[in-house]
Amino acid sequence: MLTYTPHVKWYILKQKTQTNIKGIHTMLFSRKRAQRADTPPQGNEAAPLMEWRDQFSVGIPSVDRQHKVLIKYINQLHIASQREDGGALEVGHILGGLISYTKVHFAYEEMMFRTYQYPETDDHMLSHQRVLEKVAWYKRRFDNQETGIAKELLDLLIYWLNHHILQEDMAYSQYLIKKGAR
Ligand SMILES: [Fe+2]
Ligand SMILES: [Fe+2]
Repeated sequence: MLTYTPHVKWYILKQKTQTNIKGIHTMLFSRKRAQRADTPPQGNEAAPLMEWRDQFSVGIPSVDRQHKVLIKYINQLHIASQREDGGALEVGHILGGLISYTKVHFAYEEMMFRTYQYPETDDHMLSHQRVLEKVAWYKRRFDNQETGIAKELLDLLIYWLNHHILQEDMAYSQYLIKKGAR
């Protein structure tokens, strides 16, 4: 099997993303798909593991909405992983949804970067790619029935989402707002 260095992987992703831009646009703006994607599976009510805070706002409403959905997925994963029977089926379902939605969110940000010619696009895309690789690695371990994955993954996701929003995404906030991003 061919293995690629992270730089080559990033380049391949960039090529794919550019050639699939029409598809990504359709995926992001198709109303039905957006409604489905913005509705993570509903679970019973329990104390949320992570809550939206005002300082998470990057000042771009469409991006804030997507970050809120990611937080909902994290909370759903937390609830499912606490079930006495382990909730393996539900955890797998939520994990799949979380990964898909994260890809949609990254594609959305990257489309904005290209539209507004954000100068730090390459570094930010590389960071997105690293996160996707890491989460995919957890998903493979989960699929191989390793135990304790959800807890480990949740710790990573909470750290990552804080870092992603409060540092990486805040870095583009003012630039994109000035360019007219909404
Ligand atoms: Fe980002
Ligand atoms: Fe983001």
